[in-house]
Amino acid sequence: MRRRVRKAIFPVGGLGTRFLPATKALPKEMLPVVDKPLIQYAVEEAREAGIEELIFVTGRGKSAIEDHFDHSFELQETLAARGKEKELALVQELIPRPGRIAYTRQLEPLGLGHAVWCARSLVGEEPFAVLLADDLVLADRPCLAQMMDLYAEHGGNLVAVMDVPRDQTDRYGILDVVHDDGKVAQAKGLVEKPKPDVAPSTLSIIGRYILHPLGFEELDRQEKGAGGEIQLTDAMARTIDRIPFHGMRFEGTRFDCGSKAGFLEANVAFALAREDLRADAEDILKRFAPG
Ligand code: G1P
Repeated sequence: MRRRVRKAIFPVGGLGTRFLPATKALPKEMLPVVDKPLIQYAVEEAREAGIEELIFVTGRGKSAIEDHFDHSFELQETLAARGKEKELALVQELIPRPGRIAYTRQLEPLGLGHAVWCARSLVGEEPFAVLLADDLVLADRPCLAQMMDLYAEHGGNLVAVMDVPRDQTDRYGILDVVHDDGKVAQAKGLVEKPKPDVAPSTLSIIGRYILHPLGFEELDRQEKGAGGEIQLTDAMARTIDRIPFHGMRFEGTRFDCGSKAGFLEANVAFALAREDLRADAEDILKRFAPG
C-alpha cells in the first residue's frame, strides 16, 4: 500500500521584489486575488486534496502569514458582537487545528530546493506535497486533488505540468520526456530553466509537486544549479533512475501570480468566475476595454 500524502510544504520565504512597493512590508503571498490572499488559495487546495499538516518555510518579515492562520480575538469578538456571522465563519474556518501547522525559517534565500530541504525534519520519511502560492489554478477539481488521484496509480515523484511557448522555457523546470499519452508524461530527465534552443521539450513544471522523501538526500548535498541556486528540479532529476517521475497535465487554468500581468489576469478571471461579482466584472471590462 502506498503511504498517504498527509503533509504539504509551502515555501513562502521569497522577497517578492517584482511587486514592490506593495511587498515592502507585506509578504507577496498575502497579496489578494479578489478578496483572498494567494497563500489561502494554496492552503485550501491542499486541504481539499486531503492534506492534514501544513508546513510553511518562511523568512524574515513574513509574520503576517502566521497571523492570518491564527485567531484574531478582537476581530472575532467584534464580529460576534455585531452579529456578522458570515464574516466570523470566514475568518474562523481558515484556522488549522492546533499542532497541524508548523513554521520553519529558511534563513538564507538559497533557492526552492533549499527551502524544501529546510522542512526535511518536519516531513520525515513520508511522501509530501509542495505548493507554490504564486501558481494559482482555477479548476473545477483543485489541481492537487487531481494529482492525488494519479499519484495513487503511479507513486514516485509527480508534478503538475503544462505546455508553454518555446521562448518561455527559461522560466521553468522542463521535462525530458520518454513517454507521453497526452495527459501523463514520463520523464527521463529534467532541466531547470533551459534556454529555448537547448530545452528538451516545452513541457513545464508548475508549482504543484508530490514528492518522495528520498529527494531530501539529494538536497543534503546542497549543490547549486541554475542561477546559482539549490534547485528542486535538480534533486528530482538526480533521483529519476530510482524514483519514477511523471508530469500530469492538469485540468484548469494556471495563472502566474509572480508576474504583474498574470496577477492581473487572475484577478479578472477569478472575479468573472464568482457569481456575486461576475456582472460587475463584465461591466467594468466593457467600460475600460470596449469592443
Ligand atoms: C520554480 C521552479 C521551476 C518551476 C516554477 C513553477 O521556479 O524552480 O522548476 O517550473 O517554480 O512556477 P521559480 O518560478 O521559483 O523561479
